[in-house]
Amino acid sequence: MAIFEHLEFFLIIPFIIYLFYLISTRGKTRPEPTNWPLVGMMPAVLQNLHRAHDYITEVLSACGGTFEFKGPWFCNLDMLFTSDPANIHHIFSRNFSNYPKGPDFRKIFEILGDGIFNADFELWEVHRKTTLSLLTHAKFYACLERTVWHKVETGLLPVLDYFSKRGTDFDLQDVFQRFTFDNISKLVLDYDPCSLCVELPYVACEKAFSNVVEPLLYRHIIPESLWKLQTWLKIATEKKLIDAAEAFDEFIYPHVCLKKGDDRKEGDFNLLTAFAKVYEEKNIGSSAGLRDFLRDTSLNLMFAGRDTTSTCLTWLFWLIAVNPLAEIKIRQEIETELHLKEDKKWRCFSVDESRKLKYLHGALCESLRLFPPVALEHKAPVRPDVLPSGHYIKQNGKIIFSFYSVGRMEAVWGKDCLEFRPERWISASGGIKHEPSYKFPAFNVGPRTCLGKDMAFIQMKMVAATIIYHYNIKLVEGHPVSPRDSIILQARDGLRVRLFKRHV
Ligand code: HEM
Repeated sequence: MAIFEHLEFFLIIPFIIYLFYLISTRGKTRPEPTNWPLVGMMPAVLQNLHRAHDYITEVLSACGGTFEFKGPWFCNLDMLFTSDPANIHHIFSRNFSNYPKGPDFRKIFEILGDGIFNADFELWEVHRKTTLSLLTHAKFYACLERTVWHKVETGLLPVLDYFSKRGTDFDLQDVFQRFTFDNISKLVLDYDPCSLCVELPYVACEKAFSNVVEPLLYRHIIPESLWKLQTWLKIATEKKLIDAAEAFDEFIYPHVCLKKGDDRKEGDFNLLTAFAKVYEEKNIGSSAGLRDFLRDTSLNLMFAGRDTTSTCLTWLFWLIAVNPLAEIKIRQEIETELHLKEDKKWRCFSVDESRKLKYLHGALCESLRLFPPVALEHKAPVRPDVLPSGHYIKQNGKIIFSFYSVGRMEAVWGKDCLEFRPERWISASGGIKHEPSYKFPAFNVGPRTCLGKDMAFIQMKMVAATIIYHYNIKLVEGHPVSPRDSIILQARDGLRVRLFKRHV
């Protein structure tokens, strides 16, 4: 009976919101949403749901960088939105201990279990220390180079060659997602699923990553009771999360079981084996507990490594396609810095070579500034606080940070903030210019800064340099390219391109 009462409630509320939506859309031009009785600002959210990130940016720009959103009554959806660097610095760095991820974050991202993204306090410290020691291990970069090289040679180049010879267009975002999935799977699980090959096979786990990012955004927007009801009924976007969790388990568990113990050859480097060793030494849980723990740890690292890197590469290639001068400059830099003018042979690029490519680095930073793959962050204070912007935030009050908006604020990046200018990142002495993370938060800010930043840049430069050196890239005319409304800022309909070989 209680459930049916809830269902009536959930049928009436959308109807009322729809009525307000119709009224609110008549002749309105200002971006700030109207706060209606009963339904709060929800009508404006529904009206702009298809362009959530741009709408948030418009509202934040009009309100000086911070905005109080009022949700429908009794739905616990009031939130403070901010893109103000002073607030970001205050929360992520200066008052870090007052702003853990908190229980709401954990509820929304329950699919990630006890992995690093959901962890706070001691558990987070164990994860952070262990992951950091592994990613800075002497053998790690050699292993990364081997893995990326192998994937470029056996996956990426054959697929690009296939499409360019046939003259057909294809989705470059899909190719990047398969590339990063195979790579991170090899690095974490020591298993290459070979999803990147000319047949472009359907791999359930690979697709599951793309399927979870939209429902995870909706969990931020719709009332918790509603998405919990959907989970219980196994319907709507929640069904996608249930299916994705199954796909993750089926893919990861067999490799977690296989990789226990240190039975590897000298010179091999394997993240999961190293993790298992550390956790066994620290004696965390029973053997079943360890197995689940390793599943969560692997899933978090795969989530960290697959979507972010492939999304950044996708936007880089869109940005250089619409700014052809930048493509020419990247190619010139490759040929000059790596002395390749006379060398027209097929080749891959090494870690050391990729470090020399400063202009390409600037282009990637521009891609991350304008399209940060992690476009939103979410925090709640343990104790009430007053932010540098003057806004009061109560205990457990929700704060949403729009990293997408930070990069598009004139007050932060100047009048040309919407322009793609890799030169912005080159210092007077020709090095890479440093920008504080609260102004450039793509890799997060403060003690929880991304641990894979260096690895991501190396991988992205190796891939981008290989493609730009070997091919001219043309966008398919008329194909729409806009950000997807999801927790990771993928291109909604992919990136359809045609490639033309430069060297025969
Ligand atoms: C362009 C690529 C990347 C971007 C833009 C990026 C961005 C981010 C962001 C915004 C966070 C904070 C997330 C949160 O706390 O909710 C984060 C955390 C993290 N990233 Fe990355 N990331 C990238 C690539 C990678 C790669 C390749 C790895 C390696 C596996 C990685 C590993 C991690 C880890 C372990 C954390 C958790 C840090 C912590 O909570 O202490 N990332 N990253």
